[in-house]
Amino acid sequence: MYKKVTSPSRLEGIVVPPGDKSISHRAALLNCIASGKAHVSNFCVGDDRSSMLGCLIGLGAHISKHNECNISGSEECFEIEGSGLEGLTEPKDILYAGNSGTTMRLISGLLAGQDFFSVITGDGSLRNRPMKRITTPLTQMGAKIEGREGGALAPLSFRGGELAGIEYTMPVASAQLKSCLLIAGLFATGKTIVIQPAESRDHTERMLSSMGGNIENEGLTINIQRSELRSVDVRVPSDTSGSAFWLVAGCCHPNASIRLKNVGMNPTRIGMLEVLESMEANISIENERMEGGEPVADIVASTSSLRATEIHGDVIPRVVDELPVLSLAACFAKGTTIIRDAEELRVKESDRISATVDSLSRLGATIEETPDGMKISGGTSLAGAEVKSHGDHRIAMTNAIAGLVAEGETTIEDSEAASVSYPSFWNTIEELRG
Ligand code: S3P
Repeated sequence: MYKKVTSPSRLEGIVVPPGDKSISHRAALLNCIASGKAHVSNFCVGDDRSSMLGCLIGLGAHISKHNECNISGSEECFEIEGSGLEGLTEPKDILYAGNSGTTMRLISGLLAGQDFFSVITGDGSLRNRPMKRITTPLTQMGAKIEGREGGALAPLSFRGGELAGIEYTMPVASAQLKSCLLIAGLFATGKTIVIQPAESRDHTERMLSSMGGNIENEGLTINIQRSELRSVDVRVPSDTSGSAFWLVAGCCHPNASIRLKNVGMNPTRIGMLEVLESMEANISIENERMEGGEPVADIVASTSSLRATEIHGDVIPRVVDELPVLSLAACFAKGTTIIRDAEELRVKESDRISATVDSLSRLGATIEETPDGMKISGGTSLAGAEVKSHGDHRIAMTNAIAGLVAEGETTIEDSEAASVSYPSFWNTIEELRG
């Protein structure tokens, strides 16, 4: 499906992005293996939600919509009845993770701990994403895993159970890998020690602690031991990564003010705010508070005179999903922005370095692809063009935001890709355009 976007004379409004995908996935998965009932409200929407919930239900989990929510009146609410560590059952069919890398990698940690046979697969994009990073350590823990190309690619099959803790130094700073190992560690004898090369999102650690999990965090090292978990209610904050699109729109449009509500402000997620601050973006953070163990705030982004910046090193895992749209911001910044150490972008839902460079150069940006990032010379205007989504939700949305701030009309091919994480995205564009 094609969508056409032009720049309005004024861009203004209040946006409540959907529930955070990373927190929703963990709230569902961990509550399924806890004991007791939990309510999870403001759960993420879109195809990735169906992928995670579908896999859990395939494993015999009890998840249902619930009208009387413990935590919030009007939001959609799920009730999850935990069946404890031993309560899942052998799936009768292949588990389908769709386009969701988080689903495949977190569920794999769970499958490794189960004393039954299971197979998980995904769509064409997910079947090409690297799985050796999870199958190698899970095999070291004792799981029997097969997959295409020697366990490097899905479909993956598992015969799990009888895991033993290992000490594992992660080769990449990936929250999906870390979480996979921590979940497997819940089922293992002895201690599982995970050493990260840099900090990535820590929602799994936070949630496990709040559920009474036997988990300790010291610097970049995390220890976990077999733990019986207690269910916890979770009100999911607005998606931090989904918010980034509107922040960049607000900063780059010449006449804009956008207020984002209830945004997750977990320090391991808000690298984008650090980057935008270094670009002298006009952003204010209001109403900071804690909700369900996670910091939350409202953010206002307004027209800014941006300056170029350098994005590399330890901030990369904390800004990894926002780099395509931050590259768009760099097109509007005075000077040359350099993004390095971001080779992980090449193994996301698409090769996001190539896809971003493809879109922004079609719009007239001076942008160059490097093996681990991009070089963007900003400060000139963009002109509407026809751009592709590469089947990737974040590229589709970056393209649309580019359309909001470019001169003329931008046509976005395969625009429906946005519905993987943000089905209401196109309606919000219309609302902000007034
Ligand atoms: C996610 C982790 C990130 C991110 C993905 C969601 C998660 O990937 O790109 O969209 O929920 O754990 P890595 O940290 O594994 O690179």
